[in-house]
Amino acid sequence: MELFEPGDHLVVESDLYGGSIRLFDNVSKKNHYEFTFLDCSNEDVEGAIRENTKAIYIETPTNPMMNVSDISYIAGIAKKYHLLLIVDNTFLSPYFQNPLELGADIVIHSGTKFLGGHNDTLAGFVVTNNEEIKERLRFLIKTTGAGLSPFDSWLLLRGIKTLGIRMEKSQENAIQIAAWLKQQSCVKNVYYPGLPEHPGYEIMKKQARGFQRINVAAPRKIITECLERIRGIL
Ligand SMILES: Cc1ncc(COP(=O)(O)O)c(C=O)c1O
Repeated sequence: MELFEPGDHLVVESDLYGGSIRLFDNVSKKNHYEFTFLDCSNEDVEGAIRENTKAIYIETPTNPMMNVSDISYIAGIAKKYHLLLIVDNTFLSPYFQNPLELGADIVIHSGTKFLGGHNDTLAGFVVTNNEEIKERLRFLIKTTGAGLSPFDSWLLLRGIKTLGIRMEKSQENAIQIAAWLKQQSCVKNVYYPGLPEHPGYEIMKKQARGFQRINVAAPRKIITECLERIRGIL
C-alpha cells in the first residue's frame, strides 16, 4: 500500500483472504485510499475504473470461495489504463501459476503455507519483473523493517526445495477429496476449480497447471536442472 498516495483508488476483488480485507478496510481507508470491491471473475472490472484508479488487486483462485479470474484479460485492462495489476498467488504457488508471465506487475505470496511447507515460519513474498517497482519496494522494505530474518530465510529456502513434490501430492489428494465430497448426499456444493462444472474450470486450464493429472513434466524439468547444476560443479 506504500506504493500509493492518499486519494488513490484501487479496484479490488471482493472475495479475498480476510487479512487483505482488514488491511484495506481498517488501515488503508483511514489513510484516505479508496476501494471498489467487486467479483472480478464475472463483474465489470473496466467499468469500476475511475480517474484516480492506480491498481487492480485480485486473488485467483480466491480464498475462500475459489472464484477464478482471467489474469491475462484483467492484465489487458490494467495496461490499457496504465494501472498496476497485483495478484495474490498464494493458493496455487509459483509451481502451478505464474501471473507475471500473464501480464501482472506485482505478485504476492504468503510464504507461511506452501512455500515454507513445514509450519515453522511466517513470511511473505512480493515479486515483480519491473525494475522501478523493484527499487521502490526494496527501499520500502529496507526502511520499514519488513525484511525477513536470516534464519526464516533459510527455513524458506529449505521449504522451497520440496515445493514441487508437495504440490504434486497436494493436487493429487485434492482432486480425490473433491470427487469424494461430490458423492456425499449431505454435501450441497463442492467449490473446487479442478472440477469441470466449476465456472472457472476453463480459465484454470488456460492459465494454471495441476488438478487434472500428475504433472510429470514439471518435476522432470526440476530434476534435469539439478543434474545440470551438479554436472557444472563437478
Ligand atoms: C490468499 C492468502 N493470501 C495471504 C495470506 C496471508 O498469509 P500469512 O499467514 O503468511 O500472513 C493468506 C492466509 O490465509 C491467504 O489465504
